[in-house]
Amino acid sequence: MNNQAEMTTQTLFEELIEARRSNRVFDTEHQMPEHIVATALASALKSPNSSNMQMWEFVRVKSDDKRKAMVPICLGQSAASTASEFVVVVARPDYWKTRSEFNYEKLKNEYGESSDKFAKVKSYYKDLMPKVYRNDALGILGGLKRLMATVVGLFRPMVRELGKQDIMATIHGSNSLASMTFMYAMTAQGYDTCPLGGFDSVRLKKLLNLPSSTEITMVIACGKGTPSGIWGERHRVPYEEVVRTV
Ligand SMILES: Cc1cc2nc3c(=O)[nH]c(=O)nc-3n(C[C@H](O)[C@H](O)[C@H](O)COP(=O)(O)O)c2cc1C
Repeated sequence: MNNQAEMTTQTLFEELIEARRSNRVFDTEHQMPEHIVATALASALKSPNSSNMQMWEFVRVKSDDKRKAMVPICLGQSAASTASEFVVVVARPDYWKTRSEFNYEKLKNEYGESSDKFAKVKSYYKDLMPKVYRNDALGILGGLKRLMATVVGLFRPMVRELGKQDIMATIHGSNSLASMTFMYAMTAQGYDTCPLGGFDSVRLKKLLNLPSSTEITMVIACGKGTPSGIWGERHRVPYEEVVRTV
């Protein structure tokens, strides 16, 4: 990239960052074209994610009856009652097997089964990922893995976060990155979003028929924002207070 192109990319990026705001009142008269959310989701799928396991599911809530049901579940928030559509970002720890296999097959085809390159990575998805992600309902296996990490960690650097909830946190981390990409991709198309953490997860999982092992990372209300949906200026704690250089 030459300097001029770099400047343009930087300017566009900064404009996008400035343009995205959480909008809490969407235009209920506006018909959001079908492809807007689909395009933004396609971008979101390219987000970085832990071990490329992609333990996510994005549920588009579009039908009138389900959107209506979302309003009390999202505690009556105006972003919910005016949204054209919702994207519910779901953490799917139950997907570990299919996702390990997906990566294994993709790399096998890409590198060639007998290549040295594949020899180096195949145990990652055949052995390591199942060890990391397999769990039981009570989290006993995860507890044992944490204990094992503590013992091994006495002797060498070791990933410690191997418990059931640790794994869930890793999935939520990846899902949050995808959520962010999604929201910027909506902004880039002239649309608005509001990420919502204020919702009843039990009722929402029931509405969307999600298995009990899943968790909801966030709900993203989408639509054409209105000026009254921006509640005020963007206040941020100063750089010097939140950034520490060592
Ligand atoms: C995880 C998460 C949960 C949030 N939950 C809500 C919510 O339930 N209701 C709401 O109005 N805004 C919610 N927000 C939006 C934040 O209030 C908003 O991002 C913050 O005030 C900064 O404003 P900005 O997004 O316009 O920069 C949430 C944001 C995040 C990241």
